Amino acid sequence: MKGIILAGGSATRLRPLTKVTTKQLLPVYNKPMIYYPIETLLKSGIEDILIIVAPEHAGHFINLLGSGKDFGAKFSYEVQESPRGLSDAFIVGENFIGKDDVTLILGDNIFDCDFSDHIKSFSGGGVVYAKEVHDPERFGVVDFDKDGKALSIEEKPKKPKSKFAVVGLYTYDNRAVEYAKKLKPSDRGEIEITDLNNIYLKNGELKVNIIEGLWEDAGTFDSLLRVSQIMAAKYKEEEGE
Ligand code: G1P
Repeated sequence: MKGIILAGGSATRLRPLTKVTTKQLLPVYNKPMIYYPIETLLKSGIEDILIIVAPEHAGHFINLLGSGKDFGAKFSYEVQESPRGLSDAFIVGENFIGKDDVTLILGDNIFDCDFSDHIKSFSGGGVVYAKEVHDPERFGVVDFDKDGKALSIEEKPKKPKSKFAVVGLYTYDNRAVEYAKKLKPSDRGEIEITDLNNIYLKNGELKVNIIEGLWEDAGTFDSLLRVSQIMAAKYKEEEGE
């Protein structure tokens, strides 16, 4: 299983914080944001990691993270010329993925969850992870049966069919690369991860795992502040402060 962290994009919603730097390098309490998705992958047992970055910030990521040796991991880098959508990670990452399975994590998604059992037991098809939220219309929304088989998945629906948001971590078999290449851009001009998931769903091969722990998409001022406070409290508790 290989890992990809998508840390491209221009994060216009966070201007002026992101005028001269990028979202995934902003602090979340005492660490740059990207440390969290790195740690999520490492905790899941994934150590061979591709970091996809925007061209203007590539040097900063390499300066910060280097080869991955300090993390006990191996980091590779690819440049995404423009933010073409989440599914573009599998096109940009094609050579890195090779013939392997792949888990994608979004560079601004912060978890305090253990995915290792799900990753270890992955046996093909696609897997999305879902969390019950009060505002599902802001996210991808998945509906599923009692066995965790996805029945529908929609991107930011006005009338959500469930309260389960699709979080920014996805596991696929190698076909994700070929499927991503077939996708057409959506109305917002992106090749959507939801469209990729719908290909697996139509094949009857999209599984949903519910997660219980912390999940925040740190892409807004409020969620960035909230997750910093949560991580500060956690850090101080662990340090006995
Ligand atoms: C993206 C996905 C969405 C998912 C969300 C998780 O949304 O398209 O399905 O629920 O990430 O953070 P975006 O942040 O691109 O609006």
